[in-house]
Amino acid sequence: MSSPLATLLPLTKSLDMALRPVNWDEYVGQKQVKANVRIAIDAAKKRGGMPEHILFYGPPGVGKTTLAHLVAATLKSPLKNTSGVAIERAGDLAAILTNLEPNTVLFIDEIHRLSRKIEELLYPALESGHLDIILGKGPSARTVELSLPPFTLVGATTRVAELSGPLRSRFGGGVFQLDFYNDEDLRDIIRRSALLLDLSAPEEVIDRIAARSRATPRVANALLKRVRDFSEVHNRKLSAALCDEACDLFGIDAQGLTKDDRRYLETLLKSFRGGPAGVRAVAAALHEDPDTVEHVYEPYLLRLGFIERSSRGRILTPQGRSYLSGEKSGDIF
Ligand SMILES: Nc1ncnc2c1ncn2[C@@H]1O[C@H](COP(=O)(O)OP(=O)(O)O)[C@@H](O)[C@H]1O
Ligand SMILES: [Mg+2]
Repeated sequence: MSSPLATLLPLTKSLDMALRPVNWDEYVGQKQVKANVRIAIDAAKKRGGMPEHILFYGPPGVGKTTLAHLVAATLKSPLKNTSGVAIERAGDLAAILTNLEPNTVLFIDEIHRLSRKIEELLYPALESGHLDIILGKGPSARTVELSLPPFTLVGATTRVAELSGPLRSRFGGGVFQLDFYNDEDLRDIIRRSALLLDLSAPEEVIDRIAARSRATPRVANALLKRVRDFSEVHNRKLSAALCDEACDLFGIDAQGLTKDDRRYLETLLKSFRGGPAGVRAVAAALHEDPDTVEHVYEPYLLRLGFIERSSRGRILTPQGRSYLSGEKSGDIF
């Protein structure tokens, strides 16, 4: 059975596209990142060139891909979309780079997935705009240097720690962390999405959804759409009460936590006496993939202050404990 979180996070491609901000004004929050990126773009435009390479990192759904689109749109550049998983062999990278139209924004999503071999091939392309291709094998092999059209790499990753130092240092245009969103920004995003979806959503509904969206725009949009579906099916107007009923049905509580989050917290409490416990041990107890636990569940639990990471592992905090005991007394929903 798919978890409530899984239905909120990865399966929203068409919704993402429909609601994606198309200009800087529509891109809510992340002020400092926006300002820095726009300076890099404006300076490059003034020089009549392309900006240096840029990296965005942060949890899923906080606007990394959207920024890559905005960078390309502002530069009036074509955008070439690919991902670290898709570039497996040297030939894959060579094909992409040699086929770029001049002044393209090359977006590599999940860039931490590139192998070291591909990374090394990428370095000269990023530094001096050429690609070293080895032709032939054995003693007769020779290296040919291919000049590439000018391009800007925009990388995105949820796991910046997994990026090698040398690759990270090639992002001369900046390495930017995207944070979770505050309530006010989330409400702005939800209001805009409601307009685009042709929904009249009262403020109390906007508030409810903002509070349950894990400080993440993609979750906010997905939740808005699911609450809308719920209201249509039941032929009822959007209201706070309806939101609560819908979220109950989806298994999302007042803090935006799902049964998977609660299972995580309970496991930490019961199987590990509140920790410290290593992420692999917790994941094994949950029958979950450690990567998913670390990069999908934990960031928001950390933000809420329900868990802490220490050198010896994860620890359930007093806030985490009181959340769990609150749930038992039934005042979470
Ligand atoms: N700053 C923002 N302002 C408004 N909407 C946003 C913002 N960031 C993200 N979104 C919404 O969330 C969706 C997911 O964002 P996306 O850029 O795909 O996230 P990421 O690439 O970080 O996973 C977008 O399609 C957009 O609708
Ligand atoms: Mg993305």
